[in-house]
Amino acid sequence: MSKRVDAVDLNVYYGDFLAVEGINISIDARAVTAFIGPSGCGKTTFLRSLNRMHEVLPGARVKGQLLLDGEDIYDPGVDPVTVRTQVGMVFQRPNPFPTMTIRENVLAGYKLNGARLSKSESEEIVETSLRSANLWNEVKDRLDRPGSGLSGGQQQRLCIARTIAVKPDVILMDEPCSALDPISTLAIEDLIGELQQDYTVIIVTHNMQQAARVSQKTAFFNIAGTGKPGKLIEYDDTTSIFNTPKEKSTEDYVSGRFG
Ligand SMILES: Nc1ncnc2c1ncn2[C@@H]1O[C@H](COP(=O)(O)OP(=O)(O)OP(=O)(O)O)[C@@H](O)[C@H]1O
Ligand SMILES: [Mg+2]
Repeated sequence: MSKRVDAVDLNVYYGDFLAVEGINISIDARAVTAFIGPSGCGKTTFLRSLNRMHEVLPGARVKGQLLLDGEDIYDPGVDPVTVRTQVGMVFQRPNPFPTMTIRENVLAGYKLNGARLSKSESEEIVETSLRSANLWNEVKDRLDRPGSGLSGGQQQRLCIARTIAVKPDVILMDEPCSALDPISTLAIEDLIGELQQDYTVIIVTHNMQQAARVSQKTAFFNIAGTGKPGKLIEYDDTTSIFNTPKEKSTEDYVSGRFG
């Protein structure tokens, strides 16, 4: 299930604008990797290139290679829809489909893929996914009520359940706790710790404590100035990035001197 992710000389463009340049990184399977760095340095852009969500925008493209256990997800023979099943994404704002029930939200990935499931298969997927997202006990008696009727923290866990329902290899999370209160944030952080046993988890966060709590590896991105491309500055064990960074800019950033 869990797969390694490698970027090789990856550039990410919006039309002529080079937003992210020359990324080389090898991201471990069954681990949590945090992406940190100041606003505009390309964290979201790079993250979205990892499941081919980037190219949905007109003019958006990548150069270089992105390998999932050695297989290039940008190979001409690869279907982007399949890639998005293998590499799931959880967004900053919880975004359950508003017209769908809790149950339908969990099954939404199967519906989009046109899969036909028996009633017992659906029930099994709904229960396992909600249990894995630590949400089952809170919603098991109201599976046919709208997903939008849940609290923000519950909605985010519902989105995580929807992501894991299709059994991805990699889960991308773009500031998944930034719209949540401290208790819901801790619930999501605990969940991330559990997900790492089965998945490759990559999380973008502006919260240094969160990066330190949840991740084993941290990648620091930065930009030299407005209009310049974002670059990967330093990538190492999270403890090294926070305690003994090699680059001055990493040290300045993690100690709160800029960004
Ligand atoms: N759809 C888009 N079209 C054109 N340029 C874009 C688009 N989205 C982002 N950019 C530009 O790409 C660069 C990187 O943006 P990105 O959103 O990846 O940064 P980020 O590191 O995620 O920032 P933040 O921490 O604020 O979320 C910025 O200069 C941004 O203006
Ligand atoms: Mg972003």
